[in-house]
Amino acid sequence: MQVLVVGSGGREHALAWKLKQSPKVDAVFVAPGNPGTAAIATNVAIKSDDIEGLARFAAEHSIDLTVVGPEVPLTMGIVDLFQSKGLKCWGPSKAAARLEGSKIDMKEFLRRHNIPTARFHAFTKSADAIAHIREIDGPCVVKTDGLAAGKGVTVANTAEQAVEAVIRVMEKHEFGKEAGARVVVEELLRGEEISVFAFCDGHNALMLDLVQDHKQVFDGDEGPNTGGMGAFSPVPGMVNERTMDEIVRRILVPTMSGLVHEGRPYVGLLYMGLMLTDAGPKVIEYNVRFGDPECQALMPRLTSDLAEIILASLAGTLDQFDLAWDPRTAVCVTLASGGYPGDFKSGLAIDGLSQAEGRGATVFHAGTKDKDGELLTAGGRVLSVVGLGVDLDQARDVAYAGCDAISYHGKHCRRDIGKRKEARKKV
Ligand code: AMP
Ligand code: GLY
Repeated sequence: MQVLVVGSGGREHALAWKLKQSPKVDAVFVAPGNPGTAAIATNVAIKSDDIEGLARFAAEHSIDLTVVGPEVPLTMGIVDLFQSKGLKCWGPSKAAARLEGSKIDMKEFLRRHNIPTARFHAFTKSADAIAHIREIDGPCVVKTDGLAAGKGVTVANTAEQAVEAVIRVMEKHEFGKEAGARVVVEELLRGEEISVFAFCDGHNALMLDLVQDHKQVFDGDEGPNTGGMGAFSPVPGMVNERTMDEIVRRILVPTMSGLVHEGRPYVGLLYMGLMLTDAGPKVIEYNVRFGDPECQALMPRLTSDLAEIILASLAGTLDQFDLAWDPRTAVCVTLASGGYPGDFKSGLAIDGLSQAEGRGATVFHAGTKDKDGELLTAGGRVLSVVGLGVDLDQARDVAYAGCDAISYHGKHCRRDIGKRKEARKKV
């Protein structure tokens, strides 16, 4: 089988790496990929949002299966386009991908199907949103309707902060005119935040092992939110059986059946961002793709054949499938550029990758580029360094030994990935 992976980050490197291990897979192409994927697969110079170009490539090169990493091509309708040309492409249709593409679509979907979530109101005029915020006169959350690269959400502790966010989004158009044309103002939920991932085939869903991301840029969950500074899996003791049962019964099952009912059954990887509140688990958001860096922590632990899972998902036979996991713990640490998620420098020389691998770590490339054989930084998140170990401590040791072997100017990582629980115990 010839497989094409769409995307260029650490998530796509991990997907390509895992697919390549499948006996079913003869060749892997990655579009556009990065220097990490170039070392294990063939990079193709087509951008991930050029869905017509990708379809042409897949048809011309007899690609048997296309796996889409990022949300943008999915919300553009890459799956529908491929299907119309008789090409196999794994992910949700354009209609199903609206769960991530539009916050308002998502919130109204949740309301229609009685799935627990924060109370909300949607607005098309900034004056109306501001009047509503003044009425609440307390903490709330302001969300840009459209895709805003994970930055369109403001958790406001005061009405002033919320009003400011509305002005930035709707009047100053910080995320573009389209994404900022509508906003959602919702109730602020309190509790532990978790992500649940499931492989879906339209009707059946297979939950993956739990994984926890660390969104803030600095140790101790300080500083601004990022795309993800690290992740670990499994997360024992985070969710008890009763809560897990509630997540399945009140969230996963109604999500799947709600989408079937609306004629947009969900095929692909569903990412549920949940808050475990005193009143039970509630949906914060859906994403229509794997988390990054959660994927990099999960793929080294998945012992089932990813290509087989994806084929079963496309065939609607996931009910006949069981996922198998390596019992070890994986810790994935993001090596970022100094200054990220704000301004940072790119084009800085990276050293020490083979030493990191020599110390037992697996390194996935996120934002790197190759210039005449030299590896340079090319993004806010540069590398994902993964360690496996019999327990969290050992996995952390391997991951950080890898991180310490790697050098570039301004290198930044959190030192406390996987330590959140211990920190909380001390408090
Ligand atoms: P989202 O892009 O919707 O996942 O939002 C980004 C982050 O904002 C989430 O991961 C949460 O930490 C936080 N957040 C979003 N909505 C809420 C809410 N209603 N209550 C509390 N925190 C929220
Ligand atoms: N790590 C969070 C995300 O991928 O959205």
